[in-house]
Amino acid sequence: MASSMAATLVEQSCARNKAMQITGCLLFDGDCFAQLLEGRENDVKLLMSSIGRDKRHTEIRVLERRFLQTRRCAQWSLGYFGPSRLIHRVIQRTMDEPTSQVAMRDLTELMIGFGNE
Ligand SMILES: Cc1cc2nc3c(=O)[nH]c(=O)nc-3n(C[C@H](O)[C@H](O)[C@H](O)COP(=O)(O)O)c2cc1C
Repeated sequence: MASSMAATLVEQSCARNKAMQITGCLLFDGDCFAQLLEGRENDVKLLMSSIGRDKRHTEIRVLERRFLQTRRCAQWSLGYFGPSRLIHRVIQRTMDEPTSQVAMRDLTELMIGFGNE
């Protein structure tokens, strides 16, 4: 997906997420996306089924599902960060080591860290 298409996707996603009170973050390394979504359980499930039907994806992996007391990306309907070497490295590591808790923690912390800059 081209970066201009990603911008349109984020704009449309923000509007829908806001309406559903979903917050989150989307990272793009030029090839793969990594996304964190948070909200009411049913709303997140509904959104995940929309995303699952989206033909722009070739493969979707759910890396983690969990209940949270407080949102970690409360300030964003969908924060977006485009291609960089850091983002590529962190996403690739989670792809290469899907069961690694360290890789997962680094990915999550990168997203939350962007939000708290
Ligand atoms: C990488 C990626 C991330 C997406 N994230 C969201 C999102 O956070 N919120 C959203 O409403 N749509 C998101 N979409 C778009 C959905 O897949 C879908 O096209 C849109 O929600 C409309 O769903 P519908 O066809 O069920 O109406 C994303 C699509 C892609 C490719």
